[in-house]
Amino acid sequence: MIRKYVYGWPFETEAVTEQIPEAKGIPAYGHVDVEQGFCFTCRLEADDVVYGLGEANRGINKRGNLYVSNCTDCTEHTEELRSLYGAHNFLVVSGQESFGLFVDYPAKLSFDVGYTRTDTLRIFCDRADLYLYVIDGESAYDIVRQFRGIIGRSYIPPRFAFGFGQSRWGYRTADDLRRVADGYRENHIPLDMLYMDIDYMRDYKDFTLNEEAFPDFPEFVREMKERGIRLVPIIDAGVKVEEGYPVYEEGRERRLFCQNEDGSDFTAAAWPGAVHFPDVLNPGARQWFGDQYRFLIDQGIEGFWNDMNEPSIFYTKERLEKFRARMREYVDGAADSMTVFEIGDAVGVLSGNLREDEAVYHQVGEERVRHDRVHNLYGYNMTRAAAEGLARIDPNRRFLLFSRSSYIGMHRFSGIWTGGNRSWWSHLLLNLKMMPSLNMCGFLYAGADLGGFGADTTQDLLLRWLAFGLFMPLMRNHSSLGTRVQECYQFEDTDAFRHVIGVRYRLIPYLYSEYMKAALGNEMYVKPLAFVYPQDKLARETEDQLMLGDEIMIAPVYTQNASGRYVYLPEEMKFVRFLRNGAISEKILGAGHHYVEIALDEVPMFIRRGRCVPVAEPAECVEEIDTSHLRLLGYAGAEHLLYEDDGISLDYEKTGSWRRLRVEGAE
Ligand code: GLC
Repeated sequence: MIRKYVYGWPFETEAVTEQIPEAKGIPAYGHVDVEQGFCFTCRLEADDVVYGLGEANRGINKRGNLYVSNCTDCTEHTEELRSLYGAHNFLVVSGQESFGLFVDYPAKLSFDVGYTRTDTLRIFCDRADLYLYVIDGESAYDIVRQFRGIIGRSYIPPRFAFGFGQSRWGYRTADDLRRVADGYRENHIPLDMLYMDIDYMRDYKDFTLNEEAFPDFPEFVREMKERGIRLVPIIDAGVKVEEGYPVYEEGRERRLFCQNEDGSDFTAAAWPGAVHFPDVLNPGARQWFGDQYRFLIDQGIEGFWNDMNEPSIFYTKERLEKFRARMREYVDGAADSMTVFEIGDAVGVLSGNLREDEAVYHQVGEERVRHDRVHNLYGYNMTRAAAEGLARIDPNRRFLLFSRSSYIGMHRFSGIWTGGNRSWWSHLLLNLKMMPSLNMCGFLYAGADLGGFGADTTQDLLLRWLAFGLFMPLMRNHSSLGTRVQECYQFEDTDAFRHVIGVRYRLIPYLYSEYMKAALGNEMYVKPLAFVYPQDKLARETEDQLMLGDEIMIAPVYTQNASGRYVYLPEEMKFVRFLRNGAISEKILGAGHHYVEIALDEVPMFIRRGRCVPVAEPAECVEEIDTSHLRLLGYAGAEHLLYEDDGISLDYEKTGSWRRLRVEGAE
């Protein structure tokens, strides 16, 4: 049962796609106060677990901290951050009584989940202009399903997007990318995608190509595709201010950029220097920006990643002026003294989100809307612009598309990656914890920068991270300029990488099928253990294992120098290890705790009692996977329904088919 309460004059975010009548009266479960802004308060019982908030820090259980929905480019991706790149205002309180809350409000919104008072949940924001959805159901998972049912079907990528992708900020030329392709192909490490970061553009201008670095680009795209590799270019939110650059000229003439109070185009600095931001909340601008993707589609491109769309700002002219003035005082000796911390802070505040006093406007229909009222919708609408553009360009084709910033609703148009993490073991665990929360909000095609974006990775961290990441729909190794090279063939033990990534390809028929089941049925692809074993107290407390699809549990090693880990089994399961020599070991383990040995070059997973999982032979790209010879792992007598389709069109009903597979023997 879903009730929708309306407060004030909400902005239409289009997060919810179903028509739900307005409920009268006051919401159950909590108390709403609209005296000063909006505040929803409710009591948390000692045993209540709070799930949700999508891309957020800390645990699967969100209790005990404060989270703020305020899309932010967070280059310092540390544990104390309250806001990350996305704003996902959905949570479920699960206990004796369970209910879900979705606050459809696109400005800054805070969730005090037992932070100020351990027994109290408070959700608050400055303006009481929002929709509050209150969902009750039989269980946490039931509530999630209902929620997913009102926000529309999750984005479905093409099948090749389930392959492994290599990325790095710093590939500058076609030859750089060729060398990476060679590194993978010569070492027989599977690969399906090579990502192109900002350097492929001319002076970081969207929808341009550096032609000296990429002579005859369509031919290069074809050459790569013949090797089974798709090129996936980045698109940034900011459009470079430069006379003669058609995208800029047209956007300016047609008044399609975000504006200052006085109607001039708002300018900030990003990678290209001065940029304007397309006003993607304005449907006309959205259409115009989406149509620009044709420039690359016409050259054979089939996928994109949208970045810097919080939107990320390095500085504005005004901020820089203030900074200069402050520094001048210091240099001229007018300021008594300045600590290095003060200097650091002065630099720090140059970048970051738009502030309230920097009044920037969107044109939404007849209304001019100030940016801070709709801040969390920018990345969503930039990506929606792209998806709608792609759908106009090639209506029955699936494109690979994912974004850094997001709001619920964007899950219908694309996936997400979780931004600039670091080569830290703790970020491998954070990656695991975020995944089910993202799935709750509809973001199924998701993943982190495997190996870590910032800082220098190590062979063992990358191997362990891949052994987890291979189960996630978006599997991409990405790293920053200036960090240690991170392509898999750069390390000592290339055989181990070939094997671990090979396991991904062996599992793709199964993972793709589970993804499609989740997307088509509004299910979660990965879940917290407690969603499957709600009565099990230890399952509720397990924060480092996940259930995937209907068959498996995953429990990666995320500790340096560990030769294995403790794992909790809510029921008997088959412990499966993919060994380096290609063999697969299977062993039944009873319910309870176990220490399991998992070598650095092995991939572990657990098959639930009475279930089975199909595996293919390793392949070097998705197209080469032989799905006609699948081996079944798991319990004798178990059956599995495998979904398959053409992997590229939107005709799921026409091309989708179900194959029943059965393990020999009696159950
Ligand atoms: C941002 C992105 C990162 C990208 C870089 C350069 O930091 O998060 O993935 O590599 O910009 O484009």
